[in-house]
Amino acid sequence: MRAVLVGPPGAGKGTQAQILAAELSIPKVSTGDIFRANVSGGTELGKKAKEYMDRGDLVPDEVTNAMVKDRLAQEDAVGGFLLDGFPRNVPQAETLKGMLRDLDTRLDVVLELRVDEDEVVRRLSGRRSCPQCGRVYHVEYDPPKAEGRCDDDGAALYQRDDDREETIRHRLKVYREQTAPLVEYYEKEGLLATIAATGPVAEVSGRAMAAIEGKA
Ligand code: AP5
Ligand code: ZN
Repeated sequence: MRAVLVGPPGAGKGTQAQILAAELSIPKVSTGDIFRANVSGGTELGKKAKEYMDRGDLVPDEVTNAMVKDRLAQEDAVGGFLLDGFPRNVPQAETLKGMLRDLDTRLDVVLELRVDEDEVVRRLSGRRSCPQCGRVYHVEYDPPKAEGRCDDDGAALYQRDDDREETIRHRLKVYREQTAPLVEYYEKEGLLATIAATGPVAEVSGRAMAAIEGKA
């Protein structure tokens, strides 16, 4: 299974990617997570990405595409993957298509998670993330068992730098202008499945699995 998740910031891509990847037994490849790991590790890639991420802008395509190419070449991704946060504009989608063509394969499905902007702002302003395992929580909708600590590894949860209200608004603008056109792009390719990403997390996962199975 080679699948892509598309949706605005806060749609629940990371939350669902974790669940769906486990259910489908494929690795989750999240470009946001890979960038954040590089920023906290102080790597060259992290230094290049940080200023764009802090502003809520996209990291330049050449940087992102090279990183994804390396990741998809790793052994665990050869048989399939779930991409979260890539592609994020039409040129990245074209690059991905070329990468997969070179590997003699193609995408099976692109799942669009739909949610309105007010809900996005509520979700992102209450999000807390685990620096250790990447799991995301919400102070109200999905709180950890012990306040401020990850259920899985006990690490202290943190709030992302780009989850301030003005940066959230900018990320939404970037989504509308650069990423939303992918919906039509993948519709034309016959790959698109769209679901409502509201309601309890488990219900969204159920809808997502049904949509993926219906398409693939
Ligand atoms: P990235 O990390 O991909 O951020 P994003 O797309 O803005 O998405 P988020 O991680 O904010 O949200 P999500 O949809 O994963 O939601 P989540 O599951 O966490 O990218 C960050 C930056 O990296 C970009 O701005 C850019 O600079 C750079 N970047 C990344 N990829 C790039 C690319 N391809 N090209 C160029 N640059 C790139 O959920 C959000 C909250 O809601 C959580 O608190 C969660 O608990 C809660 N929640 C989830 N589901 C539900 C539900 N059903 N009900 C209630 N609450 C819910
Ligand atoms: Zn954790």
